[in-house]
Amino acid sequence: MSRAVVYETFGGPEVLELRDAPEPHAGPGEVRVRVSAAGLNPMDWLLAERPEAAAQFGITVPSGFGYDFAGVVDEVGGGATGFAVGDRVFGGALGKAAADFLVKTPAEALWHTPEGISDEVAGTIPVAGLTAAAALAAIDLRAGDTVLVGGAAGGVGVFAVQLAKLAGARVIGTASQNTFEFLRKFGAEPVAYGPRLADRVRALAPEGVSAATDLFGTETAEAALALGVPPERISTIAAGPNPPGGVRATGGFDAGPGAMERITDAILAGRLTVPIAATFPIEQIREAVARQAGRHVHGKIVITL
Ligand SMILES: NC(=O)c1ccc[n+]([C@@H]2O[C@H](COP(=O)([O-])OP(=O)(O)OC[C@H]3O[C@@H](n4cnc5c(N)ncnc54)[C@H](OP(=O)(O)O)[C@@H]3O)[C@@H](O)[C@H]2O)c1
Repeated sequence: MSRAVVYETFGGPEVLELRDAPEPHAGPGEVRVRVSAAGLNPMDWLLAERPEAAAQFGITVPSGFGYDFAGVVDEVGGGATGFAVGDRVFGGALGKAAADFLVKTPAEALWHTPEGISDEVAGTIPVAGLTAAAALAAIDLRAGDTVLVGGAAGGVGVFAVQLAKLAGARVIGTASQNTFEFLRKFGAEPVAYGPRLADRVRALAPEGVSAATDLFGTETAEAALALGVPPERISTIAAGPNPPGGVRATGGFDAGPGAMERITDAILAGRLTVPIAATFPIEQIREAVARQAGRHVHGKIVITL
């Protein structure tokens, strides 16, 4: 048997159930992964909560839950290439990750886990890491930039802040006051989000900011426009279909070739760390999701199996 988180109706954490089901097996061209860690992202509970969002991804109920995962390949179907039984892997599988076993094609969103990176860390990288890389690539971030990062302490933010520092930028990140010390550990200069953000940023960087990425909504993008940052040097990942003023909407699928390797290389070199705010055993999926959906997590929440 295999345990899997499923939901039969759309709703909050209370609709999530851990159920026993027959083990899935790798069919032709597929691999099976024994999952040991599954990082949570806002998309997981948004899709479980909002039928209209789920529909955009082709999800109908009953559905499995989760996307990011790490574990070990334990079956390889005929014709599946690049992965062998016993390989440590991490990746993404929509609606499948929060389960003992998942089956997927290895052709996309599956990587070998480098020796030296734990499953708990690897299982946080696909969505947040690639989205952060895409958000910075969209604004052509480079050494010498002063970049304003909105929502800098969240799952995507912790990757974006550190990748921006590695690129040689000065990083100013929005957060609540309680989070300032946390952000400073990653080399970001904290600034409080909320009304009159542009004024506070101006006070911190009188010479101006040259680029911005809004990882929470539109407030940071609007502040950056007010500060005179050109729209093509402002990106958003959570602004919906109509980001303000011609700024660039982007997402993990835009990360570009080599982004994952740059992230894992930086982790291995000790130049990027993934703060894990909490791990929850899969039996506590509802508590884990409620914590994530509260929108004040610093870093990542991971489910363990
Ligand atoms: N387009 C894509 O491909 C893509 C991919 C990944 C994520 N996303 C979206 O991007 C957003 C961020 O994802 P995430 O994983 O980083 O989320 P997250 O981990 O839930 O973000 C939590 C962080 O948001 C901060 N925050 C709370 N209220 C805020 C506010 N009003 N203004 C600015 N920051 C605030 C919190 O800081 P404090 O604790 O200090 O309040 C906390 O550190 C989500 O909306 C997600 O759906 C999009």
